[in-house]
Amino acid sequence: MTIPSLAALMPEADAAQERTVAFRRKLHQNPEIGLDLPVTRQAVLDEIADLGLTLRLSETTSAVVAELDGAQPGPTLILRGDMDALPLQEDTGLPFASAVEGAMHACGHDTHVAMLAGAARLLAARREELAGRVLLFFQPGEESYHGARYALEEGLLDDTDVIGAFALHISSQFESGTINVRSGPILAAADTFRVVLTGRGGHASAPHAANDPVPAACEIVTAVQTVLSRRISTFDPAVLTVARIAAGTTSNIIPASAEMEGTIRSFSEETRDDIHTRLRTVVSGIAAAHELTADVDITPGYPVTVNDETFTDRVRGVASAVVGADRVVDIENPLMGAEDFSYVLAKYPGAMAFLGACPEGVDPDLAAPNHSNLVVFDERSLASGVATYAGVALDSLRPTA
Ligand code: NI
Repeated sequence: MTIPSLAALMPEADAAQERTVAFRRKLHQNPEIGLDLPVTRQAVLDEIADLGLTLRLSETTSAVVAELDGAQPGPTLILRGDMDALPLQEDTGLPFASAVEGAMHACGHDTHVAMLAGAARLLAARREELAGRVLLFFQPGEESYHGARYALEEGLLDDTDVIGAFALHISSQFESGTINVRSGPILAAADTFRVVLTGRGGHASAPHAANDPVPAACEIVTAVQTVLSRRISTFDPAVLTVARIAAGTTSNIIPASAEMEGTIRSFSEETRDDIHTRLRTVVSGIAAAHELTADVDITPGYPVTVNDETFTDRVRGVASAVVGADRVVDIENPLMGAEDFSYVLAKYPGAMAFLGACPEGVDPDLAAPNHSNLVVFDERSLASGVATYAGVALDSLRPTA
């Protein structure tokens, strides 16, 4: 069944495409990194100034939450667009490439802001069709700065009747204009760890007179892989990578210490906790066997991003009505990246979906990926994003007849 009001969204978003693209390019030229994004925040406030929205401005970050009230009362829905760029020199050669040395919107968050502002405009013209409130959450600091967590802690999203939260993320590696989603875990939890083994340094010719941490470090690197293959269910995927190992200075000295750093990716809180515990156990056990002391530091990153099943079905239905069922794709496997929208989805039911934006004539598998200095997003996909954002709000806050 086609829902008439949703079907009308795509032509409306198409009609607004010039404005969406112009705003996106303005943001793209002026990228800012982290939690403090004064230029971006002002650009957002200017862009939505005429829509009659009530603003909640964070006092500790550049977050903006704009309230859009429907004609009738009802519950609250959150739409999120992140705003921050990456510390990277842009090499795309685009006419609207970054004008800021060493900063680039390489994850497409500029497109998220432009699409969310575009959706706000469509929704503001359709207040009669809304029973409830849309919170347009323009979020800084997604790229490792925990911006969503700060907004939650500050109470910016503390409404009592939130029935859902939705975010789109653009990707150059999905076919342009497609909406890609899955129920359950969609992105990993990403934690980092650091291990320091301390023994006793000495002459490389007399290991018995020293206590060498290097062989123990090597044992740990292989033993922690066994944690994953022997102790964690093969049906609950996880990754543990020792990405840096450092010890010693030259060929004839046994170093006093060895250091390792790496990342842990997981898709459930149970497995995440389990890997943390087992990493500590393996390290301390091997260190003890070698009479070394061991320090293990695990820094928790973003939690698992989990899409609610019912809400994901809603997103699929809306996207089918808006962009066409043939452009709604089920992602088979979760992605190993991480997202701080996970904090929002841990509090409220909702979903994150990927908007395909692979450039025309490029194989999605070969396209420069998000976070590359060469990534290019097909701007034609933005209208699909605008319409999908707006559609999820309209569908969630539909007045009862
Ligand atoms: Ni991103």
